[in-house]
Amino acid sequence: MRVVLPVYELQQPWIIDEDILSEHGAPLVLRGAPATEALKNAMLRHGIVSVRVRSADERASASKHALPTGLILKVRQNVRKLVQKTVRERAVSSKSLSEVIEQTALLIDALFSGETPVFSELRSLSNYDAYTYEHSWSVMLFSVVLGRIAWESGLVRNLDYTSRLNLGMGAVLHDIGKTLIPSSVLNKAGPLDEKEWELMRLHPQHGFDLLRPYNLVMPMIRAIVAFHHLRPDGNGYGLAKGKTLDGEAIPQLVRIASIADAYDAMTSSRPYKKGRLPFEALEIIVSGAGSQFDTALVPLMERIVVPFPEGSLLFLKDGTVASVQLPGGLGENHGRPECVVVASFAGGGQRKPGETFILKDRSVIALGATNPEDLLIRVLVEIFGKNSTFKGSIPLELHSALPVWKELFQNALVKMTNDRLCAPEIR
Ligand SMILES: [Fe+2]
Repeated sequence: MRVVLPVYELQQPWIIDEDILSEHGAPLVLRGAPATEALKNAMLRHGIVSVRVRSADERASASKHALPTGLILKVRQNVRKLVQKTVRERAVSSKSLSEVIEQTALLIDALFSGETPVFSELRSLSNYDAYTYEHSWSVMLFSVVLGRIAWESGLVRNLDYTSRLNLGMGAVLHDIGKTLIPSSVLNKAGPLDEKEWELMRLHPQHGFDLLRPYNLVMPMIRAIVAFHHLRPDGNGYGLAKGKTLDGEAIPQLVRIASIADAYDAMTSSRPYKKGRLPFEALEIIVSGAGSQFDTALVPLMERIVVPFPEGSLLFLKDGTVASVQLPGGLGENHGRPECVVVASFAGGGQRKPGETFILKDRSVIALGATNPEDLLIRVLVEIFGKNSTFKGSIPLELHSALPVWKELFQNALVKMTNDRLCAPEIR
């Protein structure tokens, strides 16, 4: 099994299922490492809050496409360095920028060769502070692959070497202006007020200004930085000074980066919100087709990400809690996901823990989450919340045949009780 766990819960025999960088960009943990006590303590010291793990009997996932892991790690490290340096120096370093351009070009070659990559992994949240650079990095990957598929489908013409690099670098730099936004606004635990929104809406302008001194930053890269929050319906925001664009004049590469940006933002956890599962983010993108997002590009997004990644947790309307064990989707691009029942609320559900089933129907799902704690919080707040008619404690029944799940949910409940959220009972 695969699951995202809080780092404090790590113990053997879990195996770490992702590469984790330290706050300095050096590799801290590499995928495949056993979750030892020493490793757990090192991660806690570095402020890593959660991590994707697999059980020892689970094999490392065989990727459909073979992206060079060394290069991936290197570009990710250098994107991190570039963003951190910009935060410190309030200016973009030309050396860091050239390094990222050089390596991004190599990575783009890899992303355009062989089978089109499909992103099938559940997101973990390594560290809240890491958001800005991890976001830049992920938006670059999604944008380039979405660009490739749009080009292969004939939606984008002439995606030559320079355009690919512009798309990739525009995506890396799209939010570079956020490095000038106070972190009290950027990481605020709650909705922004109007004044804070005004500051936030300045980030395309800040980004544009930060890149002004560099001739090697092509106009299309600047356009992505300046206009990634503009919408085809004319709403949204662009540069604070000077001319903006009409909705229909937004270049296609900017539209691609916009979708990738929105998708990554929705599936990432932030201090003030829990990340959505891919299927939920995809539904929101579909509902914004034509207004917020380019109608023709929207359906392509479902081809490059797996809506229900392995390890996703689903709370079904009949009270069943299920974990996705074979990833998939409900549309034509993916096979149907296979799920295993891991718990049930209020004795609900026809299926027993341990039973597997094929998910075929979206309407049976109440909500999804990436980890047990987020699932319980969302169920408590959204299903049994203040406005719900449900009274009293919620019996949470867990089958003893699945001791690992029982323990995971029990620990999540203890955490919720400590955080003073009303915890249900476990039977
Ligand atoms: Fe942005």
